[in-house]
Amino acid sequence: MNIGFIGAGHMGSAMIEGLLKAKIVSPKNLYVKGGSSGTAEALQAKLGFQLIYDYNRLKECEVVFIATGAKIVLEVLQEAAPFLAEETILISVATGHTVEDAQAVLGAKIHVVHAIPNTPVSVNEGMIGVAFAQMPEETKNKALAVLTSLGKVEEVNENILGTFGTVAGCSPAFVDIFMEALADGAVREGMSRTLAYEVVAQMLLGTAKLAIDSKKHPGELKDGVTSPGGSTIRGVEALEKNGFRYAVIDAVKQANS
Ligand SMILES: NC(=O)c1ccc[n+]([C@@H]2O[C@H](COP(=O)([O-])OP(=O)(O)OC[C@H]3O[C@@H](n4cnc5c(N)ncnc54)[C@H](OP(=O)(O)O)[C@@H]3O)[C@@H](O)[C@H]2O)c1
Repeated sequence: MNIGFIGAGHMGSAMIEGLLKAKIVSPKNLYVKGGSSGTAEALQAKLGFQLIYDYNRLKECEVVFIATGAKIVLEVLQEAAPFLAEETILISVATGHTVEDAQAVLGAKIHVVHAIPNTPVSVNEGMIGVAFAQMPEETKNKALAVLTSLGKVEEVNENILGTFGTVAGCSPAFVDIFMEALADGAVREGMSRTLAYEVVAQMLLGTAKLAIDSKKHPGELKDGVTSPGGSTIRGVEALEKNGFRYAVIDAVKQANS
């Protein structure tokens, strides 16, 4: 199967890396059109896919991703539309438009999928929210097979995709700050910076895996770590005193506004 990409910025390149790692497509079957800054060229030198400079080769692709900025996505789709073959699955990962908007630009013979991924797709551990236009089950399954190679996929009502994008897509930055702060705390207490980042990252990975595998409520998992009068509950008290929960809720609210 040939896969096409329009846009290879932060999200496009993360998805391209993930798809190649998952071997769902080989570099020679992956056609990527970048913009004007040379980002796609630099990525091509690393990953060896087929760099294209116009939309012509996209007609050979069963699946085409568009990952340009939200403001220009419909305009770029308009340019690309005449070059797409009938029955192409067009997966937009751009925010700020609906399936209906894209369908209006592309016409009824293109299958439109709106997916909101996050950057961990580059290591096949993404969390992807997806909404589909009306399409045959077989076509939907083909799109799902491609997306599932990048991580976990949840089909959601399109009106929740924005919030999905905030929680799955913006939160990695919040968690990165949390990781940095935890490591700063560890360094403050005398641990080396290198060891601190290693410990913090593995702790987060393990905590997430435990939550997923055990299906336990996060509160129950937290209770399991906090012994009476112990050090962890003193840390919890300090977090609450400093408005940790409110800071996180407010971050989601502000990012989603
Ligand atoms: N980043 C995330 O975590 C995330 C999460 C979910 C959804 N999204 C959505 O994904 C989209 C891309 O986000 P991003 O963070 O990857 O932005 P970005 O880094 O700015 O990437 C956008 C890319 O589109 C390229 N481009 C612009 N016009 C083009 C054209 N006509 N043909 C081909 N490529 C073109 C740009 O190329 P040049 O710069 O080289 O001109 C740029 O590399 C946005 O709509 C965003 O809302 C992002």
